[in-house]
Amino acid sequence: MLASSREQGVDVIAATSHFYPTENNPAQFLQRRQASYERLCEAMQADGRAFPRILLGAEVYYFEGINTADDVDRLRISGTPLLLLEMPFSPWTSRMIDEVERLHERRGITVLMAHIERYFRWQKEEVWDELASCGILMQSNAEFFLSWRTKHKALKLLRQGRLQFLGSDCHNMSSRRPRLGEAMEVIGQEARDALEVQAARWLPKAAEFISV
Ligand SMILES: [Fe+2]
Repeated sequence: MLASSREQGVDVIAATSHFYPTENNPAQFLQRRQASYERLCEAMQADGRAFPRILLGAEVYYFEGINTADDVDRLRISGTPLLLLEMPFSPWTSRMIDEVERLHERRGITVLMAHIERYFRWQKEEVWDELASCGILMQSNAEFFLSWRTKHKALKLLRQGRLQFLGSDCHNMSSRRPRLGEAMEVIGQEARDALEVQAARWLPKAAEFISV
């Protein structure tokens, strides 16, 4: 997946393994992630192909009390204040929305909501205005721009400034492979520039990257 992403023009990739609060606490998760990362580095060094630089992060599944839970900040994407948040696939209660807003207000945390297109069917339109007005950032998957059913909406949201990040959401090289290159071809230059501006704003400078 990394080699394929690099071939598609990806220079930097945020590796965001799923964090499920029912399976691990943050310390356990980080320990497991570090062990995996070390194995990955060995494999990359042995491979010889070109790879993107890697930022370690997590896709944090929402849980009740997330806004006050200890160590949640340790799950941010390395070198950034960004906490990639996955929400339940059901209508969100006002309490849940409130917790997300409180989480975003915590010092040093900026909430980046993962693959927002996957929640549209359950949420009222106003939810998105409210979250955006708090400064919460939004991310969509490459597939949102590639399906003939959703492409038009994806491009509209991007042009309106409602999306700040694009994610691959890749999990494998078959059913959920990296397709960021294809998505970038669909996106016009103007919107591409807008994404670049966000990347420059939020991602760490080259010197601050973990080297592999
Ligand atoms: Fe997800």
